[in-house]
Amino acid sequence: MKIFLKTPEEIKKLQAANQIVARVLDACEAAVRPGVSTWDLNEIADRELQRAGATSAFLGYHGYPAVLCTSVNEVVVHGIPRKDLILQEGDIIGIDFGCFKEGYCGDAARTLPVGRVSAEAQALMDATRESLERAIAHCVLGNRLQDIGWAVQSYVEERGYSVVRSFVGHGIGQAMHEDPQVPNYGTPGRGLRLREGLVLAIEPMVNQGLSEVEVLADRWTAVTRDRSLSAHFEHSVAITAEGPYVLSRPHG
Ligand code: MF3
Ligand code: CO
Repeated sequence: MKIFLKTPEEIKKLQAANQIVARVLDACEAAVRPGVSTWDLNEIADRELQRAGATSAFLGYHGYPAVLCTSVNEVVVHGIPRKDLILQEGDIIGIDFGCFKEGYCGDAARTLPVGRVSAEAQALMDATRESLERAIAHCVLGNRLQDIGWAVQSYVEERGYSVVRSFVGHGIGQAMHEDPQVPNYGTPGRGLRLREGLVLAIEPMVNQGLSEVEVLADRWTAVTRDRSLSAHFEHSVAITAEGPYVLSRPHG
């Protein structure tokens, strides 16, 4: 395991990349409504990416064919944008985007309602978003890595949801995926001691039903095995002496 701790200068570059990610996600979010295809969202993301002079972290990654992941309803992560997948009122959609700017990577995701959604779907998204905020609050010196996963797991399981175990968050820097892995479950007080300059992409994936996931024949689309709804939120977070610094939080 090779962990790269980042200098303040590197954290500035990671923030620049992540602020592009935030703008791309904002542009996609503004376009989400019934009748739009997931491919339309990919085109919006691609246009914003070019405008920012950045390059995709996803396109070509292990052969991934788009710049955006679009994960609708029972899709947990890694849904591939399609012209024939038209968003319907009541769907929920996860949008996940990553890019490189000046050699540093940004990565973030959010799940959104399409028009009016059921109270159950909204509650799942709210709990997943809040679990990420609780995880971020645990990104302080003196804590350990599994405190982060515990914060997610304890919050969502208390509400009857389950945490996906087969995908995890990750360190991020000059590569999209660096050590350490950041599971969304854990035992408090265990794991790597959090250090100044550690930058983590924390990304809870939370299912309404059981935690098991399967990958479809396209080799990317990960769905809940019981086809229950799933939500996903991700932020890239720097651990500093002043506390957690959420690099991908939109600044406006
Ligand atoms: N945000 C995801 C991750 O951290 C998405 C990457 S999948 C890709 O792993 F293939 F599209 F790159
Ligand atoms: Co990620």
